[in-house]
Amino acid sequence: MCGIIGYTGAEEAENIIVDALEVLEYRGYDSAGIAVCEADGGIEVRKCAGRVKDLRSLCQGKRSRGTCGIGHTRWATHGGVSDANAHPHKFENVAVVHNGIIENYRDLIRRYHLEDRLQSQTDSEVAAAVLAHFYNGDPLAAIRKAVLKLKGTFALSILFEDIPGVIFAVRNVSPIVIARAREGSMLASDVTVLGQYAKEYFVLPEFYVAVLKKEDIELYDMSGEAAAPEWLTVNWDVDRSSKGGYPFYMEKEIMEQPQVIKETIMPRIREGIPDLSADGIPDSLLLECKRICLVACGTAMHAGLVGKALMQSLVRIHMDVELASEFMYSDAIVDEETLVIAISQSGETIDTLEAVKHAKKNGARTLAVVNVRGASVARVSDYVIYTNAGPEIAVASTKAYTTQLAVLYLLIGRMAYIRGSFGEKEAREFAKELTRVPDVMQQVLDRREEIHYIARSILNARDVFMIGRGLDYSILLEGSLKLKEISYIHSEAYASGELKHGTIALITEDTPVVAVVTQSKVQSKEFSNIKEVQSRGAGVILFMKETFSLEREAVWDSIFKLPAMEDGFMVMPASAALQLLAYYVSLDKGLDVDKPRNLAKVVTVE
Ligand code: F6R
Repeated sequence: MCGIIGYTGAEEAENIIVDALEVLEYRGYDSAGIAVCEADGGIEVRKCAGRVKDLRSLCQGKRSRGTCGIGHTRWATHGGVSDANAHPHKFENVAVVHNGIIENYRDLIRRYHLEDRLQSQTDSEVAAAVLAHFYNGDPLAAIRKAVLKLKGTFALSILFEDIPGVIFAVRNVSPIVIARAREGSMLASDVTVLGQYAKEYFVLPEFYVAVLKKEDIELYDMSGEAAAPEWLTVNWDVDRSSKGGYPFYMEKEIMEQPQVIKETIMPRIREGIPDLSADGIPDSLLLECKRICLVACGTAMHAGLVGKALMQSLVRIHMDVELASEFMYSDAIVDEETLVIAISQSGETIDTLEAVKHAKKNGARTLAVVNVRGASVARVSDYVIYTNAGPEIAVASTKAYTTQLAVLYLLIGRMAYIRGSFGEKEAREFAKELTRVPDVMQQVLDRREEIHYIARSILNARDVFMIGRGLDYSILLEGSLKLKEISYIHSEAYASGELKHGTIALITEDTPVVAVVTQSKVQSKEFSNIKEVQSRGAGVILFMKETFSLEREAVWDSIFKLPAMEDGFMVMPASAALQLLAYYVSLDKGLDVDKPRNLAKVVTVE
């Protein structure tokens, strides 16, 4: 959460920083601000509640000519959304932008007698004050002393008023990446924005201090010893960071799915069989484990639920899916015989990161499925498989989810093959069906106007229920999350066999029901459950595998026939259809589809 950017170099900093904040806005969009070292001395801070466009207007009134500055786009944690709580925070001669949470900020306020000296309600201003307290002309010493006092997570980017042209950075858990760019040096909270300017970057190691100057970048450990950065290549298709003519990133990202799924799958099928050796995944890892535990949050966790259903039925291995935020407190059983799979688009979700660390402490072997190269979850895990989704900017995840599913299919195919559940013929057939996914998804996307039409029937609904069984239920958990997060319609996914145990009391003629029927083994039960809600007056929107037949007398509000695949793969076309449903409801309600209220793309607070 919270986007951070810094630039020092030959060009004027203000435009570079404000443009970059616009790209970073998906990390938080409550308020924005900038601090620039002025050419004639001093640090000029401009900040406001609202979007980056509001900050841009604010800056237009008084342009800064300075060539070094830091910027921030906020997702409020401590302190409400207000001009005062926006970053940067300047305390005496120190200006700071911060991502993370300083847990002991109350103790620090007491200890350094800050009670009447703070302008905001944020923990971040306290960090600025502690830095100012220790600063007596030696910035590295002040940073070292200050960070030892901070408890919690932080990525701090710091300006000292008497050291113009230099940016200092330090972090614990929350990420900072650094690059040489635009005739100078830049830092940011993630590589999405730096990828536009630089070919190489490095991740600031935890508890190291980076010193960014126009000419170079220095790195020091906590004892003041110089260190060498570990440079990585930017592997980020910059074109994919633009909207490419679509009104919203979400639509573009939905439409990109056939391509990115192909890019995720094809390099990992060799001689017709799923093969993860190029990712450095040894077969022994998949052979030796006795059980699997998958940890993830939100959409990524929903991908895990699909993986669990298929893993258990095709590989016959026990698999648990745990919400990463609950994992550490649930006494989950993980040991040397457990393979812990962590799924995360950003690779920075702190709950998932902490879950991996916890699993490692318990002796488990860990495998990350991550989209952003070099992200924290990838770095702490023993093994990593990257999804090749490219930058996902819309807050609601779409192509990251389906590429996560693609990786899970590959893992399942490989495990089933090497553990003997699949013979060679079955492994080949499985892989072949997987390679059909991009074309089948494209068929759904080509018919998007049909789904747009269907979406109109739930535009004014207050509540929507989504029902299905087995894999259909897992698909709907994700479909329902998509709808609620971007349309603000209350939506519940329900295992349809459970309705009669209570929830059917909520079904009335004003409650649209979305049903997904794609699984042969439960289709007749699903149709019975659909009849139960129809008998209570609910209108039903049906997404059904095209090869299934319908009873003639049944009445449907709308039907969308999904192109057929093997049952286990129907998740893919069905997910595309449900993504489009949510998208069009949000679009037609006139909402900001890409930036739903209260959310942020990267969740770096617990
Ligand atoms: C919803 C969504 C979130 C994320 C969750 C985990 O559309 O995107 O539920 O899936 O916050 O994020 P990552 O995958 O970055 O760990």
